[in-house]
Amino acid sequence: MKKFLRNTNIDADRFRNGMAQLTGAVNIIATRNGEVRSGLTASAVCSFSAEPPRLLACVNFSGNSFQHIAESRCMSVNVLAQSQEHLAKRFADMLGGKHEDRFNYGKWTEMVTGAPVLEEALAGFDCTVEEMLVAHTHAVIIGEVKDVIVNSGLKPLLYSNRAFTTTMGHYDDLHLDYSMSPWY
Ligand SMILES: Cc1cc2nc3c(=O)[nH]c(=O)nc-3n(C[C@H](O)[C@H](O)[C@H](O)COP(=O)(O)O)c2cc1C
Repeated sequence: MKKFLRNTNIDADRFRNGMAQLTGAVNIIATRNGEVRSGLTASAVCSFSAEPPRLLACVNFSGNSFQHIAESRCMSVNVLAQSQEHLAKRFADMLGGKHEDRFNYGKWTEMVTGAPVLEEALAGFDCTVEEMLVAHTHAVIIGEVKDVIVNSGLKPLLYSNRAFTTTMGHYDDLHLDYSMSPWY
């Protein structure tokens, strides 16, 4: 069979430069393992299925939180608002400080599974761990969503081109004047 693949030299930096163009929502994944709370900032999160309700998160297993999620079999996924950039930095270890102090910031509660849920998050998904696929440096975790809190109406926190940002708002609310646009 004819081969169409040619040798390429994709290294991690070229991959990261490409991925930096993928704008994403910023979340905190959190768990409780006995008395220990652990959590990390994560953008590798997405919906998996609505029926049944499942989401997907990718977590580096060399960090602190993966082991706790694997042992407790529960996690929350908290979608951050723009005003929670300081929490994103705290849970990504960008501000220094001890790992166990991360939960001293923000208002945390518990719902069904015992995982900490951020009360003021745009949305908080309380999950048990259904499946875990470990490959290379990361684990793909499928969360079985047991409960959800929603605080809609806030601007989302996004990560784009290696910086935190947010949206302009909905086009309909911006009252843009398209009258001069040739294609409108
Ligand atoms: C915007 C942003 C997105 C991130 N996304 C992820 C991610 O999806 N998965 C991951 O494992 N780490 C991600 N990280 C890195 C972790 O937040 C960071 O390494 C954290 O300190 C790990 O905490 P832990 O030691 O408790 O696991 C991200 C960091 C930033 C700033």
